[in-house]
Amino acid sequence: MNKNMPIGVFDSGLGGLTVLRALQKKLPNESFIYIGDTAHVPYGNKSETAIINYATTLSAFLVDMYKVKMIIIACNTASAIAVKPLKEYFKVPVLDVITPMQKLFKKNNNIQRIGIIGTHNTIKSKSYEKLLFSLNPEIQIFSQACPLFVPIIEEGLENHPIAKLMSKEYLFPLIEQNIDALILGCTHYPILKKTINRFIPPEIEIIDSAEILSSYTKQHLKQQELTNSSPNVTTRLLVTDASDHFNQFARNILNNNFCNIAIINPF
Ligand code: DGL
Repeated sequence: MNKNMPIGVFDSGLGGLTVLRALQKKLPNESFIYIGDTAHVPYGNKSETAIINYATTLSAFLVDMYKVKMIIIACNTASAIAVKPLKEYFKVPVLDVITPMQKLFKKNNNIQRIGIIGTHNTIKSKSYEKLLFSLNPEIQIFSQACPLFVPIIEEGLENHPIAKLMSKEYLFPLIEQNIDALILGCTHYPILKKTINRFIPPEIEIIDSAEILSSYTKQHLKQQELTNSSPNVTTRLLVTDASDHFNQFARNILNNNFCNIAIINPF
């Protein structure tokens, strides 16, 4: 494996760009290839078979076409469902967005009542529960599927009254449980943070995985001696279907720090 090859990152759409932004910040000397599977978004209500098929096809495309040295699943739904088959199938390291959360909770014993929001599939998988209970069986977890958040965000409606209405609907039952922290268990949700903050009392800590995952990636690259040593770094964005909103959002969130957006058909 060549350490100067890019890191492959994928998500169902634009949500994983919140992870890519954190990765670019933490690892400015690395190259990235990002795929937004805009032809299949949302993943949150698809079958397990479909999600494993999408995740495997996108990963194979990253490995075969771009010779990536590592795959990052920048999607909680695909992390919850497809991480095991991907790890078994591919020789390159495969990182997911859920596992690194253990770093945070190992350190922070004050958090006892945790709210988790995510897609139907992520909540149904109980991936966060399994991880958190293994660290502390006493912890109390309250989870809530928020199936309309991803379509709202993909449509660019994060500041529209519909986003406020649905935030109230989804978050209120968790707030009533006196949670200490809220995990944004979907990489799209940080885009709604401003709206979410309006409903969540300030004493509740809001946790998203982008920062934690990027530190974890840095550590992993170092341990595996995979840190890039070439001076030429680029970020390329690929989508599986044309989306004007994806392009506009990518320019804003990444501050134009990428070279182009191309449409691919790996399926
Ligand atoms: N960003 C994906 C996640 O973290 C969104 C899933 C979807 O497409 O429904 O789960």
